[in-house]
Amino acid sequence: MEKASMGSSQKKPHALCLPAPTQGHINPMLKVAKILHSKGFHITFVNTEFNHQRLLKSQGSDALHGLPTFCFETILDGLPPPQNPDATQDVESLCKSFDKNFMGPFQSLLTKLNASSSPVTCIVADAVMGFTHDVASEFDIPEIVLWTSGVGCLICIHEYPSLLERGLMPRKDSSTLVNGYLDTLIDCAPTMSGLRLKDMPSYFRNASSFDDYMGEFLCLQVERAKRASAIIINTFHELDHDLLEMLCSTFPPCYEIGPLNLLEKTIVDDSVASLSSSLWKEEDKCLEWLESKPLSSVIYVNFGSLTVMTHEHLVEFCWGLAKSNCSFLWIIRPDLVKGNSSVLPAEFLEQTNSRGMLASWCQQEQVLNHPAIGGFLTHSGWNSTIESISGGVPMICWPYLGDQQTNCWSCYNKWEVAMEIDSDVKREEVAKLVIELMNEERGNELRKNAIDLKNKAQKACAYKIIWIK
Ligand code: UDX
Repeated sequence: MEKASMGSSQKKPHALCLPAPTQGHINPMLKVAKILHSKGFHITFVNTEFNHQRLLKSQGSDALHGLPTFCFETILDGLPPPQNPDATQDVESLCKSFDKNFMGPFQSLLTKLNASSSPVTCIVADAVMGFTHDVASEFDIPEIVLWTSGVGCLICIHEYPSLLERGLMPRKDSSTLVNGYLDTLIDCAPTMSGLRLKDMPSYFRNASSFDDYMGEFLCLQVERAKRASAIIINTFHELDHDLLEMLCSTFPPCYEIGPLNLLEKTIVDDSVASLSSSLWKEEDKCLEWLESKPLSSVIYVNFGSLTVMTHEHLVEFCWGLAKSNCSFLWIIRPDLVKGNSSVLPAEFLEQTNSRGMLASWCQQEQVLNHPAIGGFLTHSGWNSTIESISGGVPMICWPYLGDQQTNCWSCYNKWEVAMEIDSDVKREEVAKLVIELMNEERGNELRKNAIDLKNKAQKACAYKIIWIK
């Protein structure tokens, strides 16, 4: 990639970046935007007005001041104001709103920018914002799609209709879809042997109107992504090259551009380095507390921005962590528990006071790179997975929805950097797996594999930096 000339005779290329409006999608898009900016692009980054207000609140009003060459714009999401302005918005409502409510404002924004002195030369849109392909064609602008999850998940979504048609996937309304059937092997792709029904994205095996809608929605977005000039994915060669090769015949050129978290740290220029996309305010006390802890002694527990659990499961995690006797840093998002009942048992708080730290949101990338962290109990969101691997931290996976099941499968089956925990989590299993991960031989093996992948991630990053210079 040639760095654009700053001279007046040559205009900077102008990328319009449109993430899907949730935390796990905004984060990788902002990293892509910062990297492009450091290579001489003019950036316009588009958030929904709702998220823009949340960012101003969590980051302070100066945070999104932007620069002449890195501007923020907003569009309305078309949804009624939520009851809780600090909670993740309803995913199904958001997805339904993309085609219906986002297209008009996006067209108007492009018209406005194209009338300026720096017309848009490229759209970088999240893969789930598939309506952008029509807009890109209308304005005759090339479009790159950012796939924010793993390649395994992309393949599962792409293959699902054909698996269903060929009878290789149980129908969701089938009475056979019970108990042991979740362990049925699914012949999704030659490079994904050992994949079980329960490792497919949750939408393809759960029978509910939400899952039906999301399954269909994602299949449509993946088909639409074929219209892009290229697809960029936050992964690196050693993780997914076998799967990436499979995509070549059906998709536009697919590029592994990760790990974005490492690349961002290495090549982003100071002018934009501090721009943050965290929708919740990060609590600094987490990093301070870790300073007092011995090497690899703390298990970090965080279920990302979308997971919602029952109060019963919360209590099982509490007592599992208590029984493990390990030090823990546990992030309990304000909207993590259904019905907002995230009150922890008083006895648990008393018992674990000296070895547990609780917070509502943290600087996860820094936490995962802290030497005190020895393991990560995670929901297997793709960003968390890549960030954990880049930090050399082994995981215990409790996937919640969507792609997380498939990410979990890759972690324990393919890369052997994780253990999985039953979806109906019980305290005994939490305690057993935490002890195994933190103190026993199995944990050491997984840690060794994770450190090996961390080294490969660093090499992949170093190689990319040379390549794009
Ligand atoms: C979801 C899906 O789970 C994910 O797989 C998909 O690719 C994007 O949408 P989410 O559930 O939020 O995302 O998980 P994850 O992908 O892990 O993203 C969470 C992001 O928030 C990470 O970048 C993480 O570093 C950040 N985070 C999380 C914080 O900065 N602080 C926290 O306390 C928790």
